Amino acid sequence: MGRAKKAVLAYSGGVDTSVCIPYLKNEWGVEEVITFAADLGQGDELEPIRQKALDSGASQSIVGDLIEPFITEFAFPAIRANALYEGRYPLSTALARPLIARRLVEIAREVGADAVAHGCTGKGNDQVRFDVAIGALAPDLKVLTPAREWGMSREETIAYGERCGIPSPVSKKSPYSIDLNLLGRSIEAGPLEDPNVEPPEEIYALTVSVEAAPDQSQVVEIGFEQGNPVSIDGVRLDPVSLIRKANELAGRHGFGRLDMIENRVVGIKSREIYETPGLLLLIKAHQELESLTLAADVLRSKRQLEQQWADLVYQGLWYGPLKDALDGFIERTQTAVNGSVKVKLHKGNATVVGRSSSTDSLYVPTMATYDAGDQFDHRAAEGFIYVWGLPTRLWANRRL
Ligand code: ARG
Repeated sequence: MGRAKKAVLAYSGGVDTSVCIPYLKNEWGVEEVITFAADLGQGDELEPIRQKALDSGASQSIVGDLIEPFITEFAFPAIRANALYEGRYPLSTALARPLIARRLVEIAREVGADAVAHGCTGKGNDQVRFDVAIGALAPDLKVLTPAREWGMSREETIAYGERCGIPSPVSKKSPYSIDLNLLGRSIEAGPLEDPNVEPPEEIYALTVSVEAAPDQSQVVEIGFEQGNPVSIDGVRLDPVSLIRKANELAGRHGFGRLDMIENRVVGIKSREIYETPGLLLLIKAHQELESLTLAADVLRSKRQLEQQWADLVYQGLWYGPLKDALDGFIERTQTAVNGSVKVKLHKGNATVVGRSSSTDSLYVPTMATYDAGDQFDHRAAEGFIYVWGLPTRLWANRRL
């Protein structure tokens, strides 16, 4: 890899990304490291992080609020796609990476950098997402990945940092590896690495336990327009406030925890704990509204394509051609997804108890009813079934 002069580093304030700064300069001869820390609603104080990058040797330290685009351009499309990786994980971490990559590339252009850098290790999915996204958006930029190559243990990393004036972490490090943003939390490592051990209650921050959840249930009504959630209990909310509110409501009732064995892009199975209360609640409601408003064949095709959408987002292919093509299909279907869904939250469960759409419901009471108003022509079924069952009867007769 040719030498880079100026690199924009994705920065979190943690030990690894901090050590990346002197490492890039001292070991790889990068002349200038500019850091970028994203606010994705994780609730961290960003000013100390900004300062820490400068103290660690960054020539410029940028923090940027990406919450709004994160929700409108990444989370809402995932809701419209009902995206659940392996049927369960709503991609709370995965969705943030293409946005951070996009901003890194923009900053690289603004400051005239010839490289971007990140502190991901070689075992995870995030390295795949960053590298592929950057390659798609800016094929000319080098991608520098010191933590994937330096081969230092955690102790060695801390010691390297100390030699470069980076203070070692004061508090005893938690055994967990946590990724956090407005969509939820991912918790890995430590005692969780034994897939047979129940997660301790202390790891959760956005959801209460089933035991601690209120005995009293609560029904919430979520309104959608064109597949986007727009209101809760009749109150219109901007996208960011709506996600916060959904998190709060679902979390309070202990809904939104996941404990799963997940297949990573690099081929390993890992044990992952998530809490993504709002996102899971909104996807559940959105799926339900689609079952009321989408034609049966469209719905079935969409359910298949949704899995592909979730897979490719998980696998770092956000800026690829399949994503673009699937988005075209999904967008077209969402014009009919208008209405609202009532969900009862109670003791870790979210149960749909009602759905309605004044403009797009395909549920026709006079067809569905068993009462006097029934307009379905029962006699028409006979001819239909004669033809429908014909091939089966012919096949069966042949074997008599
Ligand atoms: N396994 C999840 C994913 O691939 C979470 C990854 C969390 N990332 C992290 N750097 N801690 O999306």
